[in-house]
Amino acid sequence: MASLTVRQLDEKLKQQLRLRAARNGRSVEDEVRTILRGAAAETAEPAPAAPGSDRERGLGRPEQPLEQVSKRVLLVIGGGIAAYKSLDLIRRLRERNLAVRVVMTKAAAEFVTPLSVGALASERAFTELFDPQSEFDVGHIRIARECALVVVAPATADLIAKMANGHADDLASAVLLATDKKILLAPAMNPHMWSNAATRRNLAQLVADGVAVVGPNAGEMAERNESGVGRMAEPLEIAAAIETQLAGASGALAGRRVIVTSGPTHEPIDPVRYIANRSSGKQGHAIAAAAAAAGAQVTLVSGPVNVPDPRGVSTIKVESARDMLQAVEAALPADVAVFAAAVADWRVVEAGQQKIKKSGSGALRLSLTENPDILASIAHRKSKRPELVIGFAAETEKVVEHAKAKLARKGCDWILANDVSADSGVMGGDRNTVHLITPSGVESWPTQTKDEVASALIARIAAALGGESK
Ligand SMILES: Cc1cc2nc3c(=O)[nH]c(=O)nc-3n(C[C@H](O)[C@H](O)[C@H](O)COP(=O)(O)O)c2cc1C
Repeated sequence: MASLTVRQLDEKLKQQLRLRAARNGRSVEDEVRTILRGAAAETAEPAPAAPGSDRERGLGRPEQPLEQVSKRVLLVIGGGIAAYKSLDLIRRLRERNLAVRVVMTKAAAEFVTPLSVGALASERAFTELFDPQSEFDVGHIRIARECALVVVAPATADLIAKMANGHADDLASAVLLATDKKILLAPAMNPHMWSNAATRRNLAQLVADGVAVVGPNAGEMAERNESGVGRMAEPLEIAAAIETQLAGASGALAGRRVIVTSGPTHEPIDPVRYIANRSSGKQGHAIAAAAAAAGAQVTLVSGPVNVPDPRGVSTIKVESARDMLQAVEAALPADVAVFAAAVADWRVVEAGQQKIKKSGSGALRLSLTENPDILASIAHRKSKRPELVIGFAAETEKVVEHAKAKLARKGCDWILANDVSADSGVMGGDRNTVHLITPSGVESWPTQTKDEVASALIARIAAALGGESK
């Protein structure tokens, strides 16, 4: 048999092989062997695969065609009671013409069987990191990469902790550490586990690392007499978040980090009373949703509102202006920051520790002090200033004139000015009339729904980041 070494190949071919090998985490020699095996398998009668081997499971085949990979979701099922909902999630994804490859933790297999999972996914579920029948030693790397998106549902407190700390001591955690794809978590756990400081820290770390989160929702727990935040998002909600993530992977803001603030702030007077305003959060939430739909990784810092959290967005809920500033700073760095929240300008100097009682004098004097200026502090940052800082100016008179002055004063790049006087119907309403003020002039947009304003703004942002003038 004639012998051929990689060294004898021409430079261009060697370069292509090196790139391919690096992409697949293999040595060049292994890559060549893989290609040859694939080619031989196409022309030869296939020998029966050993049960449970990588080849039987599809991993021994040559690399999957890209179009197949772009339609595949890797679902990691953690060991929580909500694992039963993951079976339905697999069905929902298959209905949407998505292929689903599944990795289960050992604990997950206590709740649902790999057999049911495999039957629904139409391929065997992966459970072992060390598989003696593997044909290649890089099975977990291929599992981690041959997909368009990794979804963890249910994401247990344990898996979240392992991810946040970079553990890789079983197949699920190794795949999650090795993947180069976006990860979407659907947490599910007891409300006490969810609110535990350790879980809060771990999740905040993952969000800062670029992991997207859907849910959890509030409601009844599996445990009797327990309710609160911790129920896994419903399969249809997760499927919608997956579709958003997949659409976003090629969206105009793919790979960008965007911070949006939304809603009012509440400034305490005493434990039961506060100073607030009429902002509904509809415009800020619509901007966050539009940015996520365009593929951005979005952190929404929201004051108290009654609108639902947008899908595919990491929402941080705050009360006061000082909390909001802290949350925004913690969410940096970002490419874009849009400050749509109606932040209270003042707060009570010293909020009462106890409920303030009537004194009988007929008057109560509250001493107010100015709140921090979130827009100006971010716009004037020396480090980690987002490339594009956008403020909102809610005015009741001389809208454009006041907004122009605000643009100069705050040091931001753009201002969206709107008329929030009582008869405009903007505060709490579904429509908005805005003027976009940039250093190059004023654009008055027609009255539109808040969703339309959000889409138009995101399109402008994408164009500006894409190289067009601000
Ligand atoms: C009946 C039962 C239900 C559980 N439900 C949850 C849950 O919903 N969320 C969670 O984080 N852990 C839950 N646990 C604990 C996890 O199973 C445990 O932390 C396990 O180590 C998680 O492993 P994994 O993260 O590798 O899947 C549950 C345990 C039991 C026994």
